[in-house]
Amino acid sequence: MAGKKLWGGRFTGSTSELTERFTVSVDFDKRLYAEDIRGSLAHARMLARQGVIEEQDAVSIENGLAGIKREIENGAFKWNESMEDVHMNVEARLTELIGEAGKRLHTGRSRNDQVATDFRLHVAVRLADWMGRARELAAVLAERAGEHLDTLLPGYTHLQPAQPVRLSHHLLAYAQMFKRDCERIGDCLKRVKVSPLGAAALAGTTYPLDPDATARDMGFGARFANSMDAVSDRDFAAEAVFCASLVMVHLSRLSEELIIWANPGFGFVRLPDAFATGSSIMPQKKNPDVSELTRGKTARVFGDLTALLTLMKGLPLAYNRDMQEDKEPFFDADETVTLALTVNAAMMREMVFDAEAMRKAMAKGFINATELADYLVGKGAAFRAAHEVSGRAVALAQDRGVGLEDLSLDDLQGLSELIEQDVFEALDYQNAADRRETPGGTGKNAVRAQLADFKAWLEQAG
Ligand code: ARG
Repeated sequence: MAGKKLWGGRFTGSTSELTERFTVSVDFDKRLYAEDIRGSLAHARMLARQGVIEEQDAVSIENGLAGIKREIENGAFKWNESMEDVHMNVEARLTELIGEAGKRLHTGRSRNDQVATDFRLHVAVRLADWMGRARELAAVLAERAGEHLDTLLPGYTHLQPAQPVRLSHHLLAYAQMFKRDCERIGDCLKRVKVSPLGAAALAGTTYPLDPDATARDMGFGARFANSMDAVSDRDFAAEAVFCASLVMVHLSRLSEELIIWANPGFGFVRLPDAFATGSSIMPQKKNPDVSELTRGKTARVFGDLTALLTLMKGLPLAYNRDMQEDKEPFFDADETVTLALTVNAAMMREMVFDAEAMRKAMAKGFINATELADYLVGKGAAFRAAHEVSGRAVALAQDRGVGLEDLSLDDLQGLSELIEQDVFEALDYQNAADRRETPGGTGKNAVRAQLADFKAWLEQAG
């Protein structure tokens, strides 16, 4: 049975239990307790400084809130579902603990600016954490790249063998994605850290509040410009979950690559035992479940983003209760992306790369055909004509079941009289990779330079 509500003044009847069950949010928004208390502290201090409440009341409020925080953290706090949400629970307990002064805390404030404040504080903490984890994964990838400066493998386009590349180059391509994620999250943080506190219900308030001071107190970079926007804006949550979605896209691509590489047909990696699972029936199996689930969990983060965007798309100004549905998608995306970044960094740290399997795979797909064409261009042929000759060489080698480098000089000269003994140097896989020293290319010096730049970024982002 419902107790008397904090907002119950104009009500004579009590809330039906069905309504309570349908509207309650405390079971999930209690996660915001620390931020709720932080926001209330800033508000109370500001009220006292502005002379809206007595200094003595602000001190009681501070002490009361500190006690509540301890109660919550040691499990003694009794969450009351009929109090709807975390905000009402904390406020009701405060009044229970300190009496009259507790009832003054909500002066010049509404749950509408309160919840927006708490949520922004929470999202900001989580974004900073994601950034650290994305950076850590990027650091692991860069470290592994440093170990494999000389390991070559076939690079693919259309998942068909294309040209030889360095494994370090390949790993650094993923590191670049996670670097962009860090930068994107950092940029998003600027918009998250705008304080809505002081917007009150929607129109501002008659009390002489100082929203700049509360913004500073809470570590926000700015305060709201428009009180109606302040209480109704959830762009920050959608943007944060979009950042998480792109992180998951990158993790999912890495996962797909590892799943392919772990297949014996490729055999480019051996999964560390700690990050693989076996089959209950097939003794030979070692399954890439971490990568598969990373790929799978990407779907739920996209779902969270879709939920947030759909939630907001038809809402008139300003606050609407629909917006209570903004938290669970964020929490879900947060849990998913946090764990996914962490487990993938740990797994990549221990991933075993099989350089020999990569070397063997290079001989399969004629990935030196471009080299033959470029060689002919070097001897004076036009590129299109050279492309044609190289194509015919591939057809010949394919018929014989060998690589281009296994054709005899006679065979090759039968295709073009420009070809001489030095063609075999051009066809060498190592040379093919080493020649590509354009900036950002797969040549050894180019990759070294890329790695040095990347490490400089890691330092400054660390
Ligand atoms: N539990 C609500 C939410 O999460 C808090 C704000 C409620 N405000 C209101 N006027 N009913 O959005």
